[in-house]
Amino acid sequence: MSSNYAAHVAERRRTTEAALAAEGFDALVISSGTPFTYYSDDQDAPFKRTPHFAHWVPLAGPEHLLHVASAKRPKLVRVAPEDYWYEQAPLGDPFWKREYDFVEVGDAAKAWKELSLTPRTAYVGDQPDAAKAAGFAPNAINPPKLVARLDWERAYKSAYEVECLSKATERAAKGHQAARAAFERGASELEIHQLYLEQTGCLERELPYESIVALDEKGATLHYQSKRAKKDGRVLLIDVGAPHAGYGSDITRTWTTAAADATFRDLQCGVDALEQRLCAMVKPGIPYLDIHVAAHREIANLLAQLGVFKVSGAEAFERGLTRPFFPHGVGHFLGIQVHDVGGRQAEPSGGTKAPPAAYPYLRTTRQVEDRQVFTIEPGVYFIPMLLREHRTGANAAAFDWALIDRLTPCGGVRIEDNVHVTPSGHQNLTRPHV
Ligand code: GLY
Ligand code: MN
Ligand code: MN
Repeated sequence: MSSNYAAHVAERRRTTEAALAAEGFDALVISSGTPFTYYSDDQDAPFKRTPHFAHWVPLAGPEHLLHVASAKRPKLVRVAPEDYWYEQAPLGDPFWKREYDFVEVGDAAKAWKELSLTPRTAYVGDQPDAAKAAGFAPNAINPPKLVARLDWERAYKSAYEVECLSKATERAAKGHQAARAAFERGASELEIHQLYLEQTGCLERELPYESIVALDEKGATLHYQSKRAKKDGRVLLIDVGAPHAGYGSDITRTWTTAAADATFRDLQCGVDALEQRLCAMVKPGIPYLDIHVAAHREIANLLAQLGVFKVSGAEAFERGLTRPFFPHGVGHFLGIQVHDVGGRQAEPSGGTKAPPAAYPYLRTTRQVEDRQVFTIEPGVYFIPMLLREHRTGANAAAFDWALIDRLTPCGGVRIEDNVHVTPSGHQNLTRPHV
């Protein structure tokens, strides 16, 4: 881990220095962030660090500052107040510390005084006022093109980052196994969720995103977040990851009991198989959009085979009939953020490459390239709101509405793996564990 980390920091120094030079800066300060306090309240939201800070160092907590200057060891200023209200865990001797000139101070004001700034030092973070007070020029505070260049680089994962994502997967796998067993015993959504936390040793606020634990029809709500006491489901769609050192996995499985509708069980097997064929497409040089379009073709064939379409798969695809069943993108970049940044970025200095009008929810329009990590997550859902418009009019006869009505209480199927692109193909980070 520590040898990979040294290389990770060396790469961050190289890419950051290049980004600074391209935008006319010679140094960068990144803050770990400041807590968000709810309006008219004394309670804070769960704290999340500035992702650009998290990209460098797995040091938790707010107010720390990182100072990166060309040809110098980066300086890390840790804010470690004495405190009896909240626990301030001792730092110990973490593996990452030796990569920095490391300083500890007792409060945020002292941290800013530790910086020796050149006139061309940029600031990135959520404290523009503090940066201004510390002497940063207004056009050096979160300069959009510099931020875009840092975001662009986040798509290319170092070996250290892939290791973090693998560990986040192994942790999630323990929870997914327990969740499946609990579902088969008839556990409720709330019980399954709590068991997942127990098995992964996670607090709820530490999850990379709010867990989706959906029994039966609730699987058709893409980001269903309630946790019902309802037990004895026939279908479980569970979408939940786990954290490791600031990185998070994002994994979905759909399970059925023997009592579930037989056609729905075939659908579950079919989506699982087509998801693996989509993963097999992943290699450098193909447009990410090709995987998304292939997902629609595959889903069209599967739904035709199961009798949901009364026309051939090819015709259903050409007529766009899969869109109400698969109304999201086939995946997204993954890393520090669950929907990691830069998926639609046109070039290193910014810009947006929009998805085609037919697929507005596709989050990644870039080429597949070596060292990217993203999800592959096709799904098929029975969403009354989206199907309604097809019940009448030109397309109505292409669907078996009686079968759709029978399958609607089953909700939906989504299967989601995390893949790491290698020079010759990809490594599936999820399948070996889940
Ligand atoms: N868990 C959210 C997603 O899969 O994108
Ligand atoms: Mn996802
Ligand atoms: Mn997910």
